[in-house]
Amino acid sequence: MTNVTSVTPRKDFLSVLDFDAADLERCLELAARVKADRVLGPQAPTAAALSGRYVAMLFEKSSLRTRTTFEIAVRELGGSVIGLQPEAALGQREPVADVARNLERWIDAVVIRTFSHQVLEQFAASACRLHVINALTDAEHPCQVVADFLTLREHWGALRGRTIAYVGDGNNVATSLAHASALLGVNLHVASPDGYRLPDTVLQQSTHAAVHGARLRLFTEAADAVAGVDAVYTDTWTSMGKEAEAEVRRHAFAGYQVNEDLMSLAKPGALFMHCLPAHRGEEVTSDVFESPASIVFDQAENRLHGQKALLLMLLAPRAAT
Ligand code: CP
Ligand code: NVA
Repeated sequence: MTNVTSVTPRKDFLSVLDFDAADLERCLELAARVKADRVLGPQAPTAAALSGRYVAMLFEKSSLRTRTTFEIAVRELGGSVIGLQPEAALGQREPVADVARNLERWIDAVVIRTFSHQVLEQFAASACRLHVINALTDAEHPCQVVADFLTLREHWGALRGRTIAYVGDGNNVATSLAHASALLGVNLHVASPDGYRLPDTVLQQSTHAAVHGARLRLFTEAADAVAGVDAVYTDTWTSMGKEAEAEVRRHAFAGYQVNEDLMSLAKPGALFMHCLPAHRGEEVTSDVFESPASIVFDQAENRLHGQKALLLMLLAPRAAT
């Protein structure tokens, strides 16, 4: 059984795989708790957990959900938010390692959205006192899937043994979904066209991390991946930074749209998920997006609670127990 009372201090959250299965279970428990406590406002048990602490936001790509919810999360935990200029901190002005070594002299944590996962890792490795949180790189989007599994817990109760189909690009969201599914005992089917499959390393990592028989299976046909599953997840065909490939991608992914026909192959009552932003008429039809099966705004809402839990686990592990 998962021990949810002991806290393993973690410096960074660059990947879901920075957590073990017990950490991730704990994080979901904590997220549910802070969500329920939010109604207490300043009386919430964690309302001053980050008092006197500074958390910087460093976003090199656009963001609505991640940035807004991190800023609210820090403030509702009693901390202070510092906005950093990406051109000053991740540009050519000075080496990334020097930026990190400056920041750790003043602040406690940085939430970073950037392109290269290696740059993020270099940033985190350069400053041993600075907590670094991945707010999305080209390779992974770990904060997203904390919210996703919090949402699924709310809808399903137990997660273990459920099956999700991810239809589309084997991208950052698909990678973090594979990692988290493995740690939570959830089966994942991923359907992608040739050239856009999940990287082999992600397959290996997920197989290695899997608990309770969680299985990751890759498919070419979307219909095969979706048959009988409990939820269908998709994401944009063209991620940020890949805009020049948009036309080529529209053709490559034409057979991977989540529409009513595809949803009808899933289990009756299956849920529809999307990290957002969504492109109606591309990866999902408007009718599926707006259907009762769609839990996309529950996912968006839970970004706040998931990220509060992450901040507590990294910055205030005692308050996280
Ligand atoms: N899903 C998500 O990360 O949204 P933003 O890009 O708006 O932060
Ligand atoms: N895969 C998308 C996710 C956006 C939240 C992107 O990287 O643009």
